[in-house]
Amino acid sequence: MTAFSAVQVAENVFWVGAIDWSLREFHGYNTSRGTTYNAYLVMADKITLIDTVKRPFFDEMMARIASVVDPSKIEYIVSNHAEMDHSGSLPEAVRVIQPAKVFASSQGVKALQEHFGPFTELTEVKDTETLSLGNLNLTFFETRMLHWPDSMVSYLAERQLLFSQDAFGMHLASSERFGDELPENILVAEGEKYFANILMPFSPLIKKAVERLTGAGIEIKIIAPDHGPIWREKPEWIIGKYQEWADQKPKKKAVVLYDTMWGSTEKMAQAVAEGLYSVGVAADMLSLSASHRSDVVTSLLDAGALIVGSPTMNNQVYPSLADCMTYLKGLKPKDLIGAAFGSYGWSGESLGLLEKMLDDMKVERVAEGIRVKYIPTEADLTVCRELGAQVGRALLEKCGGNA
Ligand code: FEO
Repeated sequence: MTAFSAVQVAENVFWVGAIDWSLREFHGYNTSRGTTYNAYLVMADKITLIDTVKRPFFDEMMARIASVVDPSKIEYIVSNHAEMDHSGSLPEAVRVIQPAKVFASSQGVKALQEHFGPFTELTEVKDTETLSLGNLNLTFFETRMLHWPDSMVSYLAERQLLFSQDAFGMHLASSERFGDELPENILVAEGEKYFANILMPFSPLIKKAVERLTGAGIEIKIIAPDHGPIWREKPEWIIGKYQEWADQKPKKKAVVLYDTMWGSTEKMAQAVAEGLYSVGVAADMLSLSASHRSDVVTSLLDAGALIVGSPTMNNQVYPSLADCMTYLKGLKPKDLIGAAFGSYGWSGESLGLLEKMLDDMKVERVAEGIRVKYIPTEADLTVCRELGAQVGRALLEKCGGNA
């Protein structure tokens, strides 16, 4: 027994991944609970490794493999996804293990070569192709853009087990390997955050992919993703959550996103929130001096309105707003209404800049923006309350019966 042991997932199937307890940043996303890079060993006649791990965790993966079998006995490696949190150790794994073949989708072969140069073991598999491992069989389904163009999932028919790479995953480091061992509130919070920050732009494709996999006549009893817990009980729970998040059905909730220089824009934000509350709409008040951009997009997952406020500084929006709005635009939250506001001293460009950002994000502006010089008066705050109420009323109309 080594410090790093494998964990059995099903008969002949072992988790041999790595736990990254310290990760706090994943391409712009604050991973406050770390993550795991899951790799799996299938002890079939032809022993097969599914995915690898981020490069610094190569030794941990190899130690876990060695707790089950001599790594040189591995005949195949399957690369479901070329992003380097899963492929970073692949070149070293190929060098040490010397597998007969490395399988990837056509886009995967291309992406792996573009990352690491040619390697002769690379072999393309087609959508729905089945690979015999001797006594067990793996079928591949392309899931393009979940999360990259190369992405595919692998289905081990005899165990009704889907190796789903990024899909159905979350960034969550834990001693527990299975979803049924973890509190549901943490699974929901980290699942929502992962979905909003990684997969939100691909929501329509996710719905189609889920429909395709669940409608392909394959029975899925276990889902083994590349991040976070394995779903060995009720995999339909995480499938249902993904369908719900992909819908982005707006609730009666607005996000009031702002930053402040001398407190004026914050006073305006508080008045906007009061206006929302006054008509029965909830508001997440997110000051960017206290909230990370990845928490903002998570709040937006079930919100119907985005109201943004910024002071003008050096003829621009506040830098934190520029950062966050760029991030939000890329993640394409859909079907939002909104408005903008902000304080200024002499030039006051922030309002127009924020409104342009909302337009670029296809947020429908339903109230006229408000600019306040220096410090808002009580009359100014009344106008801000009315802006909140106006957006709130429009949201209630739009939501109809949604809770
Ligand atoms: Fe976990 Fe798209 O990589």
